[in-house]
Amino acid sequence: MTQRFLDALLDEASGTFRPAGRFAYHYARGKLSSDCIFRELLRRGIFPAEGRFLDLGCGQGSLFAWLLAARRLADRGEWPADWAPAPRPLALRGVELMQKDVDRAARAFGRDHPLVRIEQGDMNAVDFGQAEVITILDALHYFDHTLQRDVVRRIRNALTPGGLFLTRVGDASAGLPYHICNAVDRAVTFVRGHRLPRLYCRPLADWKTLIFEEGFSVETMDMNEGKPFANVMLVCRVPG
Ligand SMILES: C[S@@+](CC[C@H](N)C(=O)[O-])C[C@H]1O[C@@H](n2cnc3c(N)ncnc32)[C@H](O)[C@@H]1O
Repeated sequence: MTQRFLDALLDEASGTFRPAGRFAYHYARGKLSSDCIFRELLRRGIFPAEGRFLDLGCGQGSLFAWLLAARRLADRGEWPADWAPAPRPLALRGVELMQKDVDRAARAFGRDHPLVRIEQGDMNAVDFGQAEVITILDALHYFDHTLQRDVVRRIRNALTPGGLFLTRVGDASAGLPYHICNAVDRAVTFVRGHRLPRLYCRPLADWKTLIFEEGFSVETMDMNEGKPFANVMLVCRVPG
């Protein structure tokens, strides 16, 4: 059941990107199938039952396609009994620096989608509004430590009581796996059209301290499934 369900979920989510072209489709399919966070966030019920989502550095919107696909499968009664219930997104707003990703998202979701709005912008400048869930997956290390704190503080202010901030960060104290991660990140970023980026990572303990100091409780989730990576998912909650 689980493998058939996962295949159906992957088909449904990556199918969103067919109108956006081959690259968008295969990128989404590769990412959603190879990165276990997408599956684990749903299986473990990390998201609230419903809410407004804001994804900062959202790329072409793979997370949103995944959440919408999950909702559709759940509504059709095709949801595994041993998984947490699928969340019901009330709004899905993404902010992405690269116009190419935003254009792909527009072709995938359509410009008049009732829930999805993906805009070109810099998370260091845009107004976050209000949300129940804010995510930054693999993007917080692209700017310096002062800006990182500022973003985390603005996220805390934008979240409603009980809100969730989910972020995946590189652990600079992890030794070789950390250096492998950084090399992969720099190569992928370069291939996607950015200049070779300078990365501003911290040891895991420093990430946790920063987020705690800004008013969150913080838990770590291991989501590498044996791969030699030093990326750690932080599940950060605003007191309810
Ligand atoms: C490693 S990619 C991850 C994309 C997406 N979160 C995903 O999981 O598919 C990081 C993304 O963050 C974006 N990004 C980097 N700095 C940003 C900023 N200051 N504001 C908005 N987006 C940013 C990059 O353009 C890139 O698309």
